Amino acid sequence: MSKIMVLGSCGQIGTELVLALRNKFGANMVFAADLHQEAPQILNNGPYIQLDALEKQKVRTFIIDNKIEQVYLLAALLSATAEKNPDFAWKLNMEGLFTILDLAKEGYIKKVFWPSSIAVFGPTTPADKTPQHTIMEPSTVYGISKQAGERWCEYYHNKFGVDVRSIRYPGLISYKSPPGGGTTDYAVDIFFKAKSVGNFTCFLSADTALPMMFMDDAIRGTIELMEAPAENIKIRSAYNLAGCSFTPAELTAEIKLFVPNFHIDYQPDYRQAIADSWPNSIDDSHAQKDWGWKAQYDTKALVKVMMENIH
Ligand code: NAD
Ligand code: SER
Repeated sequence: MSKIMVLGSCGQIGTELVLALRNKFGANMVFAADLHQEAPQILNNGPYIQLDALEKQKVRTFIIDNKIEQVYLLAALLSATAEKNPDFAWKLNMEGLFTILDLAKEGYIKKVFWPSSIAVFGPTTPADKTPQHTIMEPSTVYGISKQAGERWCEYYHNKFGVDVRSIRYPGLISYKSPPGGGTTDYAVDIFFKAKSVGNFTCFLSADTALPMMFMDDAIRGTIELMEAPAENIKIRSAYNLAGCSFTPAELTAEIKLFVPNFHIDYQPDYRQAIADSWPNSIDDSHAQKDWGWKAQYDTKALVKVMMENIH
């Protein structure tokens, strides 16, 4: 049994991924690591280490000394935050990846998961049912870092045999952990506002369609990809993965079935341009064919589970 580390474990994905991995492989096999001095209470059921992904030597020493053989590298700045600090976003999103890929190249790490994003696509990409292989001219620093990361993952696989696997996550929706500064964050906040105050001001326009996914699907897909036989993983850049797709107006209509007086108004800000450059929906047929991916939550099911679990 390999020891596993999730670096960037206290964020929206990491929190749920650590819990799911501990559930599957045993709490003591999964090290959570993040900048925070202490783990959030929800992660107290297993080992936690304060670690900065940019402190290369410390990361190397910890992984080598503890014989960690699988790393999920989640530490990054997301799209909206990255636009406010492009230099640092590039540094964080790239340097951490090289530290982990090099450890894998040297044989210490046997398997790497590194998440990409729908942000690798840009304004010249076909927006509907965006194919796996298509025009990719990202216009955000976040998207540029994810596209470069994908190229490096594929390069390390082809040149050095590194077993690295990746998914282009859509906007992820969960009720357990808040989102961390992305353009799709509205689609989480809207549920909490619908439940608490009954109204919401959206930073995207009513008709902005984006690919989205319920977190349970994302976590299941991630672990399924990592558990799939290596020969099935034909794509070593990152797989397209689709869950559902909706606009703020369509999401509002679904929420109104639970909160009939829910009111939304729209004040688009700088995130509108980011959203406008991204796909409306995703074609994930390669993931379906290669490792059997299938989403379980459509928009209706996602709204139901969110509304039932937010109190
Ligand atoms: P998040 O912002 O919620 O969490 C990121 C975590 O990384 C935080 O806990 C933060 O403290 C930690 N971190 C930041 N800098 C660090 C450093 N130097 N060292 C160690 N930890 C550090 O992000 P998330 O939504 O959980 O996303 C995780 C990954 O998935 C990112 O690479 C992101 O680009 C990708 N992704 C997320 C989504 C989404 O919708 N959530 C979609 C596409 C891709
Ligand atoms: N949800 C992410 C973001 O909006 C997509 O990568 O940044």
